[in-house]
Amino acid sequence: KKWFAVIGDPIAHSKSPNMHNTWFEEMNIDATYIPIHVKGDELEKAVAALKTLGVSGWNITIPHKQTIIPFLDELDPIAEKMAAVNTVVVQDGKLKGYNTDGAGFVHSLEEAIGQQKQSEVLIIGSGGAARGIAFALQQYGYHNLTITNRTVSKAEKIVNELGEGRALSIEEAENSLDRFNILIQCTSAGLANTDFKLPLSLEKLQEGAFVADIVYNPLMTPFLLEAEKRKATIINGLGMFVHQGAIAFQHWLGQYPNTNLMIKRLTEELL
Ligand code: ATR
Repeated sequence: KKWFAVIGDPIAHSKSPNMHNTWFEEMNIDATYIPIHVKGDELEKAVAALKTLGVSGWNITIPHKQTIIPFLDELDPIAEKMAAVNTVVVQDGKLKGYNTDGAGFVHSLEEAIGQQKQSEVLIIGSGGAARGIAFALQQYGYHNLTITNRTVSKAEKIVNELGEGRALSIEEAENSLDRFNILIQCTSAGLANTDFKLPLSLEKLQEGAFVADIVYNPLMTPFLLEAEKRKATIINGLGMFVHQGAIAFQHWLGQYPNTNLMIKRLTEELL
């Protein structure tokens, strides 16, 4: 029997075990997936233990996505570019790191609206999540990328690394908002209950725009609510979560699981 895991701190809230175990059942795969609480200073020991106990692969969540890298034998080029890993594959005793977060977002976007690679895309935020999505969009052939952030120098840094696209201040992005077909909210603004301020005003939102948020709990963020009021097509963060898991699953087992059914199930759970 194969086994898989997710490590992080905290970990009890993770929806990954339930998701992967459901896929194993659906697909008649003899495997199990467990959450393991690993604190910051226990990572090296945890990696050694996972190897000793014969794990086939695992996911990594906060706070280990960067610090895991020195313990791996090999990195996929995208994970290397990102300097962050969320998936490890064990093959012949060697550990290879991948990052499926950004690609998970692109799969989710294309499942929702099809391939619209000519779109003008505005990414809001410049943390790890925004960076991953920017690189993945570029990799999948989206080249009209604009990044805006409260701290604009961080947006400029990502644009430099991409070698294309442009960076705008929040104010500049708000003033030219009607240019953009796709908006992607990647900041942590509004995550805390106390702060419902939008990271960017949607006053000039283009008619028929697509507006995505990477947050899935709650499913309906203040940003998406505002976008819906303005008749945008909205995309919540659940698809990104499910597809990052599906891509990891494919790395481990060579098959892509049923994402639609999973998104329906988890939506019911979160509503
Ligand atoms: P993650 O890894 O999830 O992307 P992060 O690296 O901490 O998290 O990045 C958080 C992002 O949310 C940043 O773009 C941050 O803006 P700054 O770079 O200016 O700090 C943004 N952010 C956090 N709180 C915000 C707020 N109250 N208003 C606007 N942007 C905010």
